[in-house]
Amino acid sequence: MDQKLLDQIRELKEKRRAVILAHNYQPAEIQDLADFCGDSLGLSIQASETDAETIVFCGVRFMAETAKLLCPDKKILIPDPGAGCSLADSITAEDVRMMKSTHPGIPVVTYVNTSAAVKAETDICCTSSNAVKIVNSLESDKVIFLPDQHLGRYVASRTDKELILWMGSCEVHRIFKAEEIRELRRKYAGIQVIAHPECPLEVLEEADYVGSTSGMIKYVDESAPARVVLMTECSMSDNIAVDFPGTEFIKPCNLCPHMKKISLQNIYQSLLSLEPEVTIPAEIAAAARRSVERMLEVS
Ligand code: 13P
Ligand code: SF4
Repeated sequence: MDQKLLDQIRELKEKRRAVILAHNYQPAEIQDLADFCGDSLGLSIQASETDAETIVFCGVRFMAETAKLLCPDKKILIPDPGAGCSLADSITAEDVRMMKSTHPGIPVVTYVNTSAAVKAETDICCTSSNAVKIVNSLESDKVIFLPDQHLGRYVASRTDKELILWMGSCEVHRIFKAEEIRELRRKYAGIQVIAHPECPLEVLEEADYVGSTSGMIKYVDESAPARVVLMTECSMSDNIAVDFPGTEFIKPCNLCPHMKKISLQNIYQSLLSLEPEVTIPAEIAAAARRSVERMLEVS
C-alpha cells in the first residue's frame, strides 16, 4: 500500500475539514481512511448529522446525491462521478410519471438506488434495510415500488400489500442462483447463507438471513457462524473476514465495477481540487429531499 499517499490524504482531509464516508463495498484501504462506513441508510444518516464542511463520498453517485439532498449547504465530493449503478440507470423521471399516470392515486416508493430526478417524482424513498417498514407505513393497499424487481418481490413476500413493480435489477446480485446455494450446502456442511435482498427471490428463499450490507455484518457478529457465504459484492467478505477470525468465509461473490471506480488516487485528487462536486438543480432537489426525509422520519 502507498503509505505516502495515505498520509497525504489524511493531511488534506484535516486541512479541508472533510469527513470521508465509505460504503461497505469499498475495499479495506479506503474503509481504513473513512470516518464512517455503512450501508446506504447509515451513510445517509451520517451525512445528515455531520458538521464537517466537506464530505468525500466513497461509494456510487446516487449515494453522494442523497448526501447532497440532505446537506445542501455542504460540499459533497464524489472522487469518480462515473460511479453509476445499474438500478439507478434502469429508470428515468419520465418512466415514473408514466407509472403514476397508469396507476393514478397509488403511492410511489422508490429505492434510494435512483437519480435525484426519479426521487423527485416519488412519495417516499427506502433502502434495503427499511423497505418492508416503509411499504407497511403507507395506508394504501397498493404501492408502486421502483425500480428493483427483486427487492420488490422480496418486500411483496413480507407484506399484505400489492406491489406494482418496475423491471430494474442490480447487475451484481441478479446473477446469483438458488442452485449455487444448494451446491454450497452439499459441499460445506453447516454453512450459513446470507443474501442481500437485491438477489432473486429464489435465492432469498434458500438463505438463512436476508439483509442490507450492515445487516449482514450484524448477523455475522451476533450469530458467529463457523462458516458463511455472503451472496453479495466481494469486498464485503474480504472486509469483515478480518474482524471475525473465527468464521470461515466461502466465496462466490460478484464485483461491482461502479464501486471499484473509487481509488486512493482519485480520493486524493478530489480533496486537492475540491472536485468533482455533486450538484442537483434546485427544483429537483426540493422534491427529492422530501422523499428522502420522509424515509428518515419513518426509519
Ligand atoms: P445497502 O444499502 O444494503 O448497503 O445496499 C446498497 C447497494 O447498492 C447494494 O448493492
Ligand atoms: Fe448498484 Fe448493484 Fe453496484 Fe449496488 S452492487 S451499486 S445496486 S450495481
